[in-house]
Amino acid sequence: MNILVTGGLGFIGSHTVIELVKNAHEVIIVDSLVNSKIEVLDRLHEITGVKPTFYQIDVTDEAKVEEIFLTHKIDGVIHFAGLKAVGESVSKPIAYYYNNLVSTMVLSKMCLKHGIGKFVFSSSATVYGDQPSPLKEEMALQKTTNPYGETKAISERILTDVSQANDGFAVSLLRYFNPVGAHESGLIGEDPNGIPNNLMPFVTKVAKGKLTRLSVFGNDYETADGTGVRDYIHVMDLAEGHVKAIENLSKGVNVYNLGTGTGVSVLELVNAFMKVNNVDVPYEIVGRRPGDIAICFADPEKAEQELGWKATRSVEDMVRDAWKFEVDNS
Ligand code: UFG
Repeated sequence: MNILVTGGLGFIGSHTVIELVKNAHEVIIVDSLVNSKIEVLDRLHEITGVKPTFYQIDVTDEAKVEEIFLTHKIDGVIHFAGLKAVGESVSKPIAYYYNNLVSTMVLSKMCLKHGIGKFVFSSSATVYGDQPSPLKEEMALQKTTNPYGETKAISERILTDVSQANDGFAVSLLRYFNPVGAHESGLIGEDPNGIPNNLMPFVTKVAKGKLTRLSVFGNDYETADGTGVRDYIHVMDLAEGHVKAIENLSKGVNVYNLGTGTGVSVLELVNAFMKVNNVDVPYEIVGRRPGDIAICFADPEKAEQELGWKATRSVEDMVRDAWKFEVDNS
């Protein structure tokens, strides 16, 4: 298939491009570079042997997006592009609602106009709100604690309505849990601008000595060691999930959790990182971070049953590959 990948130079998008090319798909990448780097394109070339077609475009720009739909024969769209910093979304709600919702509307509108019937969307486990894990796809969505989360829930609704109104428009809503790690080559990985918000990139920077110490946000949760529990998933497993999702897309609206099904605490992840990589990660326990929940992990059964996809990489693989990317690129 010819697949348009928005945000294809970002963390999850770039790893997915590798898997798409590996599975003989042609990729057209669109990325605004607001939160990614052009060097990733050369790295993708180095890893896959193929230089994907690339356009530096903001997908809220309908005229520019339409030019791409007119230039290329596209079979499907995987839409990753979006703003994703939870804290920033609270201080800049308009930027988040505008970018993340207009992009979804522009792309789905172009798909309808140009007869493209496959759409895969980057959603998030955050749409479940604070419900008991394991989280299942049929659970009702709950209001999230921040505008970023709301943009994911509203995008899901927009795409659901568009699909219900248009028979040939099939959608897959992929709810990611906590993507971490990097491609095993160490050539691409997670490279956020500024001080990382998420646990794993923060840990790699502390281990490297670029940041002094990790703040562990709370050890008084109702969990085995008191720290927050999440379902960390290797980004290459997630990438494989996207290929399966677009290749096996059924009619209508399809919702899948992409997680491992296993909860891991902050301290378990940090201890695994130190042990596997033989490096120290100084940390201190501080107060809870507002908006955090205690436990969040997936029931990943549905994706296995319907897509034949299952995460296979371990926490050890995740911490090893995340560290390799940090060491090789600093
Ligand atoms: N944490 C720390 N210290 C840090 C950063 C995080 O202790 O410096 C803890 C958090 O409190 C939480 C865990 O590490 O318990 C994971 O935090 P992340 O920020 O890495 O991830 P979240 O689970 O908060 O959020 C992630 C994505 C969101 C997405 C959400 C969906 O960042 O985009 O998962 O579940 F919405």
